[in-house]
Amino acid sequence: MGYKIVVVGATGNVGREMLNILEERQFPVDEIAVLASRRSLGTEVSFGERTLKTQDLDAFDFTGWDMALFAVGSEATQKYAPLAAKAGCVVIDNSSLYRYDRDIPLIVPEVNPQAIHDYAKKNIIANPNCSTAQMVVVLKPLHERARIKRVVVSTYQSVSGAGKDGMDELWDQTKSIFNPVDDKPAKKFTKQIAFNVIPHIDVFLDDGSTKEEWKMVAETKKIIDPSIKVTATCVRVPVFVGHAEAINIEFEDFLDEDEARDILREAPGIMVIDKREDGGYVTPVECVGDYATFISRIRQDSTIDNGLNLWCVSDNLRKGAALNAVQIAELLGREVLKKG
Ligand SMILES: NC(=O)c1ccc[n+]([C@@H]2O[C@H](COP(=O)([O-])OP(=O)(O)OC[C@H]3O[C@@H](n4cnc5c(N)ncnc54)[C@H](OP(=O)(O)O)[C@@H]3O)[C@@H](O)[C@H]2O)c1
Repeated sequence: MGYKIVVVGATGNVGREMLNILEERQFPVDEIAVLASRRSLGTEVSFGERTLKTQDLDAFDFTGWDMALFAVGSEATQKYAPLAAKAGCVVIDNSSLYRYDRDIPLIVPEVNPQAIHDYAKKNIIANPNCSTAQMVVVLKPLHERARIKRVVVSTYQSVSGAGKDGMDELWDQTKSIFNPVDDKPAKKFTKQIAFNVIPHIDVFLDDGSTKEEWKMVAETKKIIDPSIKVTATCVRVPVFVGHAEAINIEFEDFLDEDEARDILREAPGIMVIDKREDGGYVTPVECVGDYATFISRIRQDSTIDNGLNLWCVSDNLRKGAALNAVQIAELLGREVLKKG
């Protein structure tokens, strides 16, 4: 016996990837429903060999369904996730709406799987921000060995993190640079993204940081340890899929770069590719479609007593969203619901 699963936002970047990953990992699905807005009613999406027709979220009854994997914006999540949760269907949510709620666990299965048992307070589990998910997988095993005091991170985030409209905008602008007749002004991003980089993701906050940067701070504290200080600069780059991060870590205790490399080689969810030669590191295009978070360029930071630098790359639609959501579903099944 398996699970009755609902994928909400099935026509979007994350929703489609969730369907791929449920199939790839042979998640025990007895029945599956795919939902999107009324605009997409009847749109076909692939689930392995099968083609499924999208239903209207607004007309769907969640009663009798085990889990709903939500990948719609915060507004639609706010309206529909509580209905699903109240109907007894556990929500695993990709939006930022519930991540900071004390009664809702925020989970990266390699890092804080024990938090799964808190799901029942609201029948909702939150999935972290894409940039946070790949970073905490790396920080956790290093924190266990040498206690992290402070992290300075700069991100290089692909346009797929802004949804399918973000990918279309990069594609259209790139074409229009070669064929100016097709000129497409910026809509999704605030400045030209083709052949450019934009140091601005999500809204600005009063202190001059952006909400994306704040999310990395708040979510790292909630998932690993509130004592870790994080300062972030989040940048959108003209890459379709795959987020990269340059991470500087200051520890309480000394941690040698070779030991750090060994620890990360053994850690779940991580692949270390770190040859100190031309091409001996991983770039975003090489991580697309993979499950792992790739670590390269591990080296001592000689400007502080206990510091390391490293380069971290992952598929933002996978570990940053869909894969992590499916891993949470697997964890919930294994630890709590115990079907399949
Ligand atoms: N992309 C990432 O790397 C990433 C990472 C972490 C978290 N997330 C979060 O995951 C969520 C989805 O992101 P995405 O990148 O997949 O966005 P997307 O490609 O723009 O897709 C959005 C999906 O939501 C559906 N939708 C929007 N409004 C709806 C409504 N009122 N009722 C029903 N369905 C509605 C859309 O359906 P239609 O096709 O019918 O419009 C589509 O299926 C967002 O909350 C995002 O912040 C994304």
